[in-house]
Amino acid sequence: MNLTRDEQRILEGKQGEGRRVAMELVVKFGRLYQAQRLVEVKNAHIDAGAYSTIWDSGLDFVESLVQKGARVAVPTTINPCSHDQDNWQRLGQPEEFVRRSHRLKQAYLRLGVSPTWTCAPYECTSAPSFGEVVSWSESNAVNYLNSVLGARSNRLPDLVDVCCAVAGRVPEYGLLLPQQRAGQLLFELREFPDPYFRDASDYAVLGYLVGEIAGSRVPVVLGLPQRTTKADLKAFSAASASSGAVALFHAVGHTPESPSLEAAFQGRRDYESYVVTPRQFQEVKERLTVSRGQSRPGLGIILGCPHLSFSEIAEIHALFRGQRTAPGVEFWIQTSRTVCHLLEEAGLRSQLEEAGALLIKDTCVLELSPLTAWPFGTIVTNSGKIAQYGPGVCGVGLVLASTAQCVQAAISGRVEG
Ligand code: F3S
Repeated sequence: MNLTRDEQRILEGKQGEGRRVAMELVVKFGRLYQAQRLVEVKNAHIDAGAYSTIWDSGLDFVESLVQKGARVAVPTTINPCSHDQDNWQRLGQPEEFVRRSHRLKQAYLRLGVSPTWTCAPYECTSAPSFGEVVSWSESNAVNYLNSVLGARSNRLPDLVDVCCAVAGRVPEYGLLLPQQRAGQLLFELREFPDPYFRDASDYAVLGYLVGEIAGSRVPVVLGLPQRTTKADLKAFSAASASSGAVALFHAVGHTPESPSLEAAFQGRRDYESYVVTPRQFQEVKERLTVSRGQSRPGLGIILGCPHLSFSEIAEIHALFRGQRTAPGVEFWIQTSRTVCHLLEEAGLRSQLEEAGALLIKDTCVLELSPLTAWPFGTIVTNSGKIAQYGPGVCGVGLVLASTAQCVQAAISGRVEG
C-alpha cells in the first residue's frame, strides 16, 4: 500500500500512540482488501456504539484507545448505545449491564465523538454531499448514504470504524471505486396497482425481497413510483441491508447517480434480471409474519428501525387523532435525542406520551439487553429490519404492517388481518 509521508509519520507514532494503533489497524485492514492507498475523509459514523454488540472486549479496546490519548480526527457521529438513560429501569435492564453501557458511552465522548446515538445520522446532522468519501458503518446508514445521498462508503466492521475515525482515513477499495458501483442485477417491478408503495412498509418488503436475492451484489430497481420519498428509501435501505448485505442499490430515477438504467449499469448489458410481481411481494410479506411467541400475552408496536425523523413522528402523531393506546399495549417510538428535543419544542412529545406512546431515545429494541425482559409476545412493526431479526433473537411473534395499521393496532389492542 502506498502511504503518504503524513501517514508514515502517524505509523511511526509521531502523532501519539493512540493514533498510531488506529492507523496500524486501518492499514492492516486495507491490505486485506488489497487497497492501494488510504483516502482522507471529512466525516465518520461509528456503528460500534452498543455495548450489547461489542461487549467487554470492545469496551476494553475503546478504553485503551482513550488511555493512549486517541481522539477522532474528523466530525464523528455514533450509532445507538445499549440503554436509554430515562427508561432502562422500566425496560427491565440489569444495573451492571447499564453501568458498562454507560462506561462505553463515556469512552466515546472522551474520544471526541458527537453524542448522537442514532443509526440515522443523516436525519439530525448535515448529510454528506454527492460523491463525498466518508467513513461510515451501520448497514442501513451506509446503504442510504451510497444509494440515496450519492456519497461513498464501504460497510466497515465494528471497531475498524472507530480506528478509521481516529486515523481520519479509509482504505480505498470496494464502493469507493467508481467501477465497483455499477449495478449487477436488475429487479423490474411489474403490474403493481396504485395502492402499492404508499407506505414505508411496502418498501421494507421490497427491500427484503431484493436483499435476499442480491446478497452483497449491487441491485438495480426499475419501476418505483415517482412519489417515492427519502423515508421510503430509508425503509428499503434497512431491509435490503438486513435480509442481504446490500450496501448500494440503484433505484432508477431516485439514486443520484442513476437517472437511467444505462447509467445504473454503467453501460453494461450482461446482468441477471428478475421480474417482481404483486404475488411475489405478498409471499414475502406473509413469510415475514411469524407466529412463534404469540402464545405469550402482550402486544408491542415498535416503530423507528431505523430511527425516525421529526416528520415521520409527526405523521404518527396525526394518525392517533386524539385517541390513545388500548390498555396493556406497548407502543414504542425509537428516535434520536436530537429529534426528541425537536418533539419537545413542538409540544408533540407530551401529546404522544398522553396517547400512550413511549419515546425511546439513544437506543433501540435490538440493542437493549436482556431481550427476555420484553413485555410482549407479539411485535407489530413497519420495519423490515425488525422483521428480520426480532423473532429469531427474541422468540416473539411478528406482524409486518403499514404505519397506519400499527397505530390502529395500538388503539384497538388487536392486530387486523
Ligand atoms: Fe437502528 Fe437499531 Fe434498527 S440501530 S436500524 S433501530 S436495529
